[in-house]
Amino acid sequence: MQRSALILVLAFSTATLALDNGLMRTPPMGWLAWERFRCDTDCESDPQNCISETLFMDMADRLSEDGWRELGYVYINIDDCWSSMARDNQGRLQADPERFPRGIPHLARYVHDRGLKLGIYGDLGTHTCGGYPGTTLDKVQIDAQTFADWGIDMLKLDGCYSNATYQEQGYPMMSKALNATGRPIGYSCSWPAYQGGLPPKVNYTLLGQICNLWRNYGDIQDSWDSVLNIVDWFFNNQDVLQPVAGPGQWNDPDMLIIGDFGLSMDQSRSQMALWAIMAAPLFMSNDLRTISSGARAILQNKAVIGINQDHLGIQGRRLIKEKSGIEVYWRPLSKGASALVFFSRRSDMPYRYMTSLKMLNYTLGVYKVYDVFSEKPLPELKDSTDFVVSVNPSGVVMWYVYPAAEWRKEAGPSRFSEKLRGPKFHRYANEVDAPLVL
Ligand SMILES: *[C@@H]1O[C@H](CO)[C@@H](O)[C@H](O)[C@H]1NC(C)=O
Ligand SMILES: *[C@@H]1O[C@H](CO)[C@@H](O)[C@H](O)[C@H]1NC(C)=O
Ligand SMILES: *[C@@H]1O[C@H](CO)[C@@H](O)[C@H](O)[C@H]1NC(C)=O
Ligand SMILES: *[C@@H]1O[C@H](CO)[C@@H](O)[C@H](O)[C@H]1NC(C)=O
Repeated sequence: MQRSALILVLAFSTATLALDNGLMRTPPMGWLAWERFRCDTDCESDPQNCISETLFMDMADRLSEDGWRELGYVYINIDDCWSSMARDNQGRLQADPERFPRGIPHLARYVHDRGLKLGIYGDLGTHTCGGYPGTTLDKVQIDAQTFADWGIDMLKLDGCYSNATYQEQGYPMMSKALNATGRPIGYSCSWPAYQGGLPPKVNYTLLGQICNLWRNYGDIQDSWDSVLNIVDWFFNNQDVLQPVAGPGQWNDPDMLIIGDFGLSMDQSRSQMALWAIMAAPLFMSNDLRTISSGARAILQNKAVIGINQDHLGIQGRRLIKEKSGIEVYWRPLSKGASALVFFSRRSDMPYRYMTSLKMLNYTLGVYKVYDVFSEKPLPELKDSTDFVVSVNPSGVVMWYVYPAAEWRKEAGPSRFSEKLRGPKFHRYANEVDAPLVL
């Protein structure tokens, strides 16, 4: 199939009946406590890292003061282990009084005052995964109302301690209950992850109508093995998963672990690049108080964020798996642009991969190319010209590709690299309802 035809297929197969709460038209971005801070409730001996209002206020300060918010990282999300072991005398969930002495409404105000949004965690079942009170069917309404009253902006609803029939009732019920509160609350459903992530057990048409995002697969851990395992599952199942993503409804391969302990810089760039190709939610789970400048540069790279946030919201695909261990990934973007990722599974040395844009089915003559991680425009490239990219072991080369003729027509004389460097790129990638002109 030609690139142009494939784009049309991808675009039109995107489901149109997204959850109607107006939220998350591009993949949500922010910070989520779980992978890095887990269920550390020991505030006595580990006050800096325990699940407490201090941790979330610290991270809110960092998001708002260190340039994250302006790039789109606006959600700050509580995960499991925040609540008291008992509901209050009116049956409502309540925060642990020792670790959240001023309560969740205070934290929500603190977060909102900094231009951020607050997410919280619940579990459809008798208990949360960590053993805290769950949301049984009779509690769905009261919990939705409690979260809305508190000023919550997003709910992740986990699925421990329940079963398939229960989930089939509960996940749509919570969607209705959130809507009924009148407060727009982004809704993340762990449902598919508990049912194997694939049809016929999972109905992605339905998920798109009731959830803004959903966890399809197991939890990420702080290791390269875990990232590879997730990448393999998502791209091996891309024929099922790719068409169901779109504005307001996203597959969620889980958190970014960039800035933690398990990934090298090359592997960090790989996670960021492949999550951008997947149109994945970008929830970092790391310690923003101590993050290295290298990890920060990757997470704050404007071009890769712009690609992730492209307003068409078309999830990308793996195009090629070479015997050499090189893989090529591709995502169509607005304004006839696209993103390419050359990824190496090798473990020897940088591999010199030779190909041409024509071999990747680009057929519009001359293209502009911007190298996302070296942050440099490359010389114009003819579709028929062979080129070589040098891809580091477990690393990527990521390109933003744009037909030169389209560029001249639509963008006038302004310089390509300038467009991409500044916040302009972000706006550009999110701008207009462009025709698909590749
Ligand atoms: C390019 O198009 C051809 C013909 O439709 C197809 O067989 C091939 O898989 C495509 N290649 C890539 C890299 O998408
Ligand atoms: C609730 O659903 C209706 C109909 O789908 C929609 O118009 C409205 O914006 C939703 N409200 C909220 C708060 O999500
Ligand atoms: C599912 O869970 C509900 C609530 O705990 C229980 O009543 C029901 O019997 C369970 N169904 C199956 C098939 O296990
Ligand atoms: C999936 O859900 C949609 C929307 O609710 C429904 O129309 C469709 O029949 C379901 N598909 C299957 C196979 O159950």
